[in-house]
Order: sequence, then C-alpha cells, then structure tokens
Amino acid sequence: MAILEVKHIEKNFGDTQVLSDISFSLEQGQALSIIGSSGSGKTTLLRCLNFLERPDGGNISVNGKVIFDAQDPATQSEAQIRKKRLHFGLVFQNFNLFPQYTALQNVTLARELMAKEHGGESKAQILEAGKALLKQMGLEDRAGHYPHQLSGGQQQRVAIARALAMRPDILCFDEPTSALDPELTGEVLRVIRELAVQKTTMIIVTHEMNFARDVSDQVIFMDGGVIVEQGDPQQVINHPREERTRQFLSRREG
Ligand SMILES: Nc1ncnc2c1ncn2[C@@H]1O[C@H](COP(=O)(O)OP(=O)(O)OP(=O)(O)O)[C@@H](O)[C@H]1O
Ligand SMILES: [Mg+2]
Repeated sequence: MAILEVKHIEKNFGDTQVLSDISFSLEQGQALSIIGSSGSGKTTLLRCLNFLERPDGGNISVNGKVIFDAQDPATQSEAQIRKKRLHFGLVFQNFNLFPQYTALQNVTLARELMAKEHGGESKAQILEAGKALLKQMGLEDRAGHYPHQLSGGQQQRVAIARALAMRPDILCFDEPTSALDPELTGEVLRVIRELAVQKTTMIIVTHEMNFARDVSDQVIFMDGGVIVEQGDPQQVINHPREERTRQFLSRREG
C-alpha cells in the first residue's frame, strides 16, 4: 500500500489555476523528486501537502486513510488539519530557523510543546533525541549555537533535524540547497542522500538534476501547474518522452 496517495489536486489563486489534476503516489521508503521551471507550482504543491495552502479540489491519503478531501468539509476543520499536518515534515529553501533559539532548541521545541499538550515523553528524552539528530547531521558540537553563528549549510542541517524530530511519515524538501553556495550545497545533499539510504520517505523539490537522478526512486516533471511526465529517474532525466521535459532539461544544461 502506498504511504501517500495524491489524487486530482487542484489549486487556484484568484482566477489563476496554479495546480491542475495533480496525482501521484509514493511507497514507504521511497524518495520522489519534483523538478520543473520557476512558477510551475512545485512549492504550491508542497504547501498543499503540508496544509499551508488548502487545495480547491482532490484528495490526499496517508497510509490508506483519506486525510483531506476537498469535497468533504469533515476532513477540513482547523483541529484536524493541525493534527494531519504532522504526517508531513517540511524543510524550506531559507531554513526558517527560529533566530532566538539555539540549534538544539530549534530541534526540540515543537516536540516539547506536543509533549506538554498530549503527554508522553519527558523533557530529558526529547533532549536526548534532539542531540542524537544533531549528531546524525554532523552537528553535535553546534547544539548550543544560535542560527546566526552557523553557516547556511549548518542551518539547513539543523532545519532537517528539526523536521525529523517530529517523526513525520513523509519528509518534504523545497529546494533545500538553492540558497547555499556550491561548497555548502554538498554537505546538505550528503545528509539527504544518507536519509535516502536509510529509507526515509521523502519528496524533494530540487534543481539538482544529478542528485535527483541518483537518490530518487521516482521523478516528476511539472510545467504550468500540471505533471507533464513522471517515472523512473533515469528515464525522465536521461531519456524524457515529452518535448516539454526535453526543453526544460536542455535549457538547464545550456
Ligand atoms: N499566494 C499566492 N498568491 C497568488 N499567486 C501565487 C501565490 N503563491 C504562488 N503563486 C503563483 O503560483 C504559481 C506557482 O508558484 P510556485 O511558487 O508554486 O512555483 P515554483 O514551481 O515553486 O517556482 P520556483 O521554482 O520559482 O520556486 C506562480 O505563478 C506564482 O506566481
Ligand atoms: Mg518554489
């Protein structure tokens, strides 16, 4: 059974249709890359999955259960959406760390709030888990640093640890390296690659074609709010079937 099933997602901003009939599914442990030119709707799609935007049509299922259906208001109450958002983790292009908190506090904050509300883990357990995640990101010696004391690549790795701390079913990345210098890009791609090896279920919006081809089980090419082509990474990136995909890829090389 697919861990994520997205069916016929539509999104409009005013009169402009930004996403049209977006459907795909993702198996547990798979990585899906989404490629496409600026304005094609990649970020909007991730924001819909994380309920930062409300889709105007379609439905989303996680583990076989419909968690959002545009036709069914019962799936759309604020309280429900807050809970369902926890299925997804989101790593932003610009890190979006809380500047007033240390790296470790950034990682543990949401989980501490959740434990306060719903009980469960002790603060000590959460801190332990947070430190382990920072270690996994190669940042064990940066736990007490504030974001402004960290490089962009380090900040992004803290942001990845923060997303992982909530134990999402699906971890989403929106161009995680496009705000980074080339030498810092490598360290972030390395940790995402490692997550893929560990079979973390991921959706990665990226402009790094070689990376997308190497780490993904599946690639989607979007243009103008639709999925133009999707399938095996080798096929989509090396041997695209669609003219629009070919044009996009050749523009990038040129
Ligand atoms: N809040 C909004 N209100 C109105 N239009 C929006 C809004 N957010 C996005 N759009 C429009 O939706 C379209 C898709 O934008 P989106 O940010 O999803 O593209 P993208 O594929 O992520 O592009 P990029 O590669 O530049 O990040 C664009 O035409 C954009 O102008
Ligand atoms: Mg975007």
